Amino acid sequence: MNDGFSGISARMNSADTPKTAKGVFIKTYGCQMNVYDSERMRDVLRPLGYAPVDSPESADLVVLNTCHIREKATEKVYSELGQLKRMKEETGGKMTIAVAGCVAQAEGEEIMRRQPAVDLVLGPQAYHKLPEMIARASRAVGDRLETEFDTLEKFDALPKTREADGPTAFLSVQEGCDKFCTFCVVPYTRGAELSRPVDDITLEARALAAQGVREISLLGQNVNAFHGASPALTNEADWTLGQLVRHLAKIGGIERIRYTTSHPRDMDDDLIAAHGDTPQMQPFLHLPVQSGSDRILKAMNRGHTADEYREIIRKVRAAQPDIAMASDFIVGFPGESDEDFEATMQLVRDVNYAIAYSFKYSPRPGTPAAEMFGQVPEEVKDTRLQALQKLLREQQIAFNESRIGQSVPVLVTGRGRLEGQAHGRSPWMQAVHFNGPEELTGEIVDVKITGASLNSLSGELVRAREVAL
Ligand code: 5AD
Ligand code: SF4
Repeated sequence: MNDGFSGISARMNSADTPKTAKGVFIKTYGCQMNVYDSERMRDVLRPLGYAPVDSPESADLVVLNTCHIREKATEKVYSELGQLKRMKEETGGKMTIAVAGCVAQAEGEEIMRRQPAVDLVLGPQAYHKLPEMIARASRAVGDRLETEFDTLEKFDALPKTREADGPTAFLSVQEGCDKFCTFCVVPYTRGAELSRPVDDITLEARALAAQGVREISLLGQNVNAFHGASPALTNEADWTLGQLVRHLAKIGGIERIRYTTSHPRDMDDDLIAAHGDTPQMQPFLHLPVQSGSDRILKAMNRGHTADEYREIIRKVRAAQPDIAMASDFIVGFPGESDEDFEATMQLVRDVNYAIAYSFKYSPRPGTPAAEMFGQVPEEVKDTRLQALQKLLREQQIAFNESRIGQSVPVLVTGRGRLEGQAHGRSPWMQAVHFNGPEELTGEIVDVKITGASLNSLSGELVRAREVAL
């Protein structure tokens, strides 16, 4: 799994580039939702003749798909825009620069003021309007800023099928958030919680399966709050995520299903049961807790205690004992004492994580926590983050090493870095390298694990499995 929130360059397959095409370079920051959105922007641009290129220098259109979750992520965008401005000048102003995503949503006017080289600004609910905006920008007429919230309109306007890029794919099923954790900008940048209808999701999943996708990751800011309209003709109430997973598991070719990111409050019994009774459901659960202190959880408006979280994990492990647990943590939330921090460390010791992402609290303008008393000094945040990350690293290595000697089903995702090597993904989201031909891509093979490091496993190919289609 990628680190949830660092810069990722959008994967762009340039193999299908038509000769006469204009080049587009999309750089993606932040979460998997942005990775998905970048793929969909590529889909809406394709009919206009835009084909992906590998660097901004050779692009006619550059899109920065931005993240606003912490201050650092936001600042990166402005420094990148400075570099793009210079490139644009070198092309005599021919390059079109677009800023998309959550910074665009939150600071659209500010972006245009701070960096006049930017041609278009569009929020996460507006990227289906990209073609129209490019046309307007080229004629220098109309609005250059689109930050309306209409998630449903966006999903309706997007092409119903998409081109798959390898055997794994993201599939957005839900967007937005109504939880209003006091530190978080998402409810403001992504808007209110909204689920896509089951029929639309099924169509997209079938199209992906038909192109060889074996593993789908259902995406949503609060994915387990999913409540999408039930299939037409069933006349049933909205479906839950558990129902959706069981339904998608019946699609031929879909061997693995994941979902991210979840909220502890929405972890219902049926979804937990699906971890035990639906073979396609992978043994991995990203369930951010943020803190182990009840006092801090309350100030964060998380709506649960640390023990309630422990109890959810006990139930999940009862359904699927071999599950890999993942989480996000924030250290140095306003008012966090040494004792509160120790409660977080204790929770980590109790749960034992396979992987986790941890961050220093970053005050975000407009969120309640930014105004709270008791902001924690930067040095204290640093010390706590180091202590937490040391513990989490130890747990991650121990988890990876526990696979040594086991034969693990690996979905092969492509060629490895070394000659003759292939790489793939374990059920627990670990990257796996082994000696094997690239032609195995898309198959699930057994790999006997012989080595483990912090970020990956290595092993030997045992045999190609029969994949039931
Ligand atoms: N400061 C630090 N971390 C944050 N996150 C969200 N908002 C903030 C913030 N203001 C973290 C949370 C969340 C993850 C996506 O980013 O841990 O789960
Ligand atoms: Fe942000 Fe909380 Fe919503 Fe997650 S649940 S997106 S942390 S407000």
